[in-house]
Amino acid sequence: MLKRFSKRVWSWLDTRIGFTDMIKPVAEHLVPRDARWWYVFGSATLTAFVIQVFTGVALAFSYVPSAAHAYATLQFISNQAVFGRFMRALHYYGASAMVLMVGLHMAQVFLFGSYKYPRELNWVSGSLLLLFTLVMGFTGQLLRWDQTGVWSVVVAAAQAARVPIIGHWLARFTLGGDTVGGATLSRFFAIHVFVMPALLFAFIALHLVLVLRHGISEPPNPGLRPDPKTYQRQYEELMKKTGVPFWPDAAWRDVVFSAIMIAGIVGMALVFGPPALGKPPDPSIIAADPRPDWYLLWYFAVLALLPHGTEHWFMVLAPLAVGFLLILLPLVFPRGERSPRRRPWAVGLVLMVVLMIGTLWRQGEVSPWSPNFDVKPLPAQVVGTAGGPIAQGARLFYEKGCINCHLIAGHGGRRGPDLTNVGSRLSRNEIILRISNGGINMPAFAGTMTPEEMNQLADFLLSRKVGVTSQHLTIP
Ligand code: HEC
Repeated sequence: MLKRFSKRVWSWLDTRIGFTDMIKPVAEHLVPRDARWWYVFGSATLTAFVIQVFTGVALAFSYVPSAAHAYATLQFISNQAVFGRFMRALHYYGASAMVLMVGLHMAQVFLFGSYKYPRELNWVSGSLLLLFTLVMGFTGQLLRWDQTGVWSVVVAAAQAARVPIIGHWLARFTLGGDTVGGATLSRFFAIHVFVMPALLFAFIALHLVLVLRHGISEPPNPGLRPDPKTYQRQYEELMKKTGVPFWPDAAWRDVVFSAIMIAGIVGMALVFGPPALGKPPDPSIIAADPRPDWYLLWYFAVLALLPHGTEHWFMVLAPLAVGFLLILLPLVFPRGERSPRRRPWAVGLVLMVVLMIGTLWRQGEVSPWSPNFDVKPLPAQVVGTAGGPIAQGARLFYEKGCINCHLIAGHGGRRGPDLTNVGSRLSRNEIILRISNGGINMPAFAGTMTPEEMNQLADFLLSRKVGVTSQHLTIP
């Protein structure tokens, strides 16, 4: 009864709207029989995008994009809202998955030479989708509106401002003014939920239309160099002879792989939860860890590792050059050998990129250019005494966040100078002056410390002398 009724409703709707006419040719279009597991990354990217849309809309229900409320609403989402924590985590790992899948998809398309004739524009539209995805990642980070998010943007804007010629304009455009504030947040929110999603939807649609129009590329045969004059006819013949319908013959692999990916995202979300919310942003606190999420971290590492003075040019020119080369690639090499077995340079290039990003990523994790927030108080054998002003000073050194930027006998961060032997280098007055006034990249502590605390810190630092400290250096 119910079944018959729903069948009639469906057929009524279908005759009027034409679902079947639309879906059938798409679902049943012929694809190469031997397009197997290598071809699943594109659909997985799409799946990740769909997850982002749903979790993103769910988050937007509770999120207030204003400087006064953003942090509080995120705390609400993380701690009180039903499934809020889970949604944030899904959105975070979904973003990671999407970036990862885009990378794998591009590597596969590149290695198989699938970007060649007639699919050049598939590649170009895909390259733009990569850009939009990365912009989503970057703008999404600021929406957390915690110290990390805000400082990532401050760092990015400071870098942008140093770009030759257009720097100031670029920084002002990024921040929506001269400093990070409500206008920055509104701007990033608009980009993150309106501009980029609209572009993503449009270009994903275009990308899929092109995929359907040209069909999925057949796995390359070493030695076979498709000729644009005959390629289309050959492809059609191949499909007629050995092609299989996309649904269900080929699509089940996409479904299986996407399901594994979703399980991975859900698993990570349940086990690890969303990235911890940092402290609320406070312009007077420099002691934040301006480290972007992992897929952008390696690029920050590049900027930090470049010789001083070159990074301004590199910052704009390198992404432009990479984008330019990506778009140029299919236009310059539209024909010729497709098989990775006959294109060792292509395989080498992919390996090199993976290796480079991997190493830089590692560098970014341990790099000295931002404070180290994963530190413990100084061990007793480094301090050398358990009581008195020196021990008090050592405690303050940890509590006031000095240790996040300064190294003592191998413990702490590397943002500022190593203070292991500072007692041999500076006098009490110099030390107190520096702590009170701060310096380049060091906050001033005059307003947040009592004279007594200042003296205890000085006592502690003065006890850090060559020869005195080295005897405590049991394990560096
Ligand atoms: C955000 C990172 C950061 C924090 C937090 C920080 N410093 Fe610094 N510190 C620096 C930097 C960077 C320099 C070098 C500044 C310069 O040369 O202008 C520096 C310089 C110093 C110097 C001079 C070292 C020398 O060899 O000339 C002393 C002493 C010092 N800091 C002590 C402290 C103490 C004590 C605290 C905690 C109350 C602290 N710092 C907190 C980054 C930091």
